[in-house]
Amino acid sequence: MPELAYLNGEYLPIESAKVSVEDRGMQFGDSLYEVVRLYDGVPFRAREHLERMRAGAEVVDLPPDALSGLPTVIEELAGRSQMADAFVYLQVTRGACPRIHAAPDEIEPTIIGTVRPFDRLPKRLYRKGATAYTEPDIRWGRRDVKATTLLPNILAATRVQKKGGYDAVFVEDDGTVTEGTVSNLFAVIDGVIRTHPVGPRILAGVTRAAVVEAAEHLELPLREEAFTREELRVASELFFTNTYCEVLPVVRVDDAEIGTGEPGPLARDLLGAFREIVQRETGTG
Ligand code: PDD
Repeated sequence: MPELAYLNGEYLPIESAKVSVEDRGMQFGDSLYEVVRLYDGVPFRAREHLERMRAGAEVVDLPPDALSGLPTVIEELAGRSQMADAFVYLQVTRGACPRIHAAPDEIEPTIIGTVRPFDRLPKRLYRKGATAYTEPDIRWGRRDVKATTLLPNILAATRVQKKGGYDAVFVEDDGTVTEGTVSNLFAVIDGVIRTHPVGPRILAGVTRAAVVEAAEHLELPLREEAFTREELRVASELFFTNTYCEVLPVVRVDDAEIGTGEPGPLARDLLGAFREIVQRETGTG
């Protein structure tokens, strides 16, 4: 099936979907986005993704009406493409207008969606564990808003990829670890699973929330409390979570091994429990 796009009310082949050169999403990154995974063609937690977008729209003053058709867009892209493992990308920009920083009142948002097949990460990566590299977290103060203004993420992710890593470990000036460039981070320190609390400093990941639920279900000790770069030295496990990788163990950060240098049992158990949640909610597997 073709890779499809949705643009302002129309479904069309991806290569035919074009937005204006004066779109504010293109010129300023004045836009929000979401990435929803399809398992066997069924969206996982679409409502939660859209809820996060709605919260972001409120912060950046995008009209809530702009988002009202998105549940249908997800369903239609999933249904029309007939792809099994895939992801739907959604983007809502403030719209197109002659370039001026201040957003005009009268402007129609641009609504974009695409669906593309998703190649699962290699099993070997889960077996061997990923490498990560620390990067200074120089992003803005509202990282809970999933905006397309992503230059700090892109530069850090590119540096990490060139070194062969999966993602960055973003570290604030005071040594606090926040998250990755496309993922949330969990560490196991003194037997307790820890992850940065939700709030303006991180994106509240949909996968992160499901992993917190999974830990509760498995009765594993978990605290939503930030950890520092220093504490990584004594962490027995570290793992990324996001829509693509689900739960991915990290065995090395910069030049230092995490724990034994092999994926740990809690990441493995949480990946299993996360996949059970997916199977239950999407009716797959
Ligand atoms: N990114 N933190 C950041 C900065 C992210 O960009 C993402 C996801 C996450 C994890 O969120 P979730 O579990 O809802 O995928 C955390 C998407 C996948 C992206 O930018 O492509």
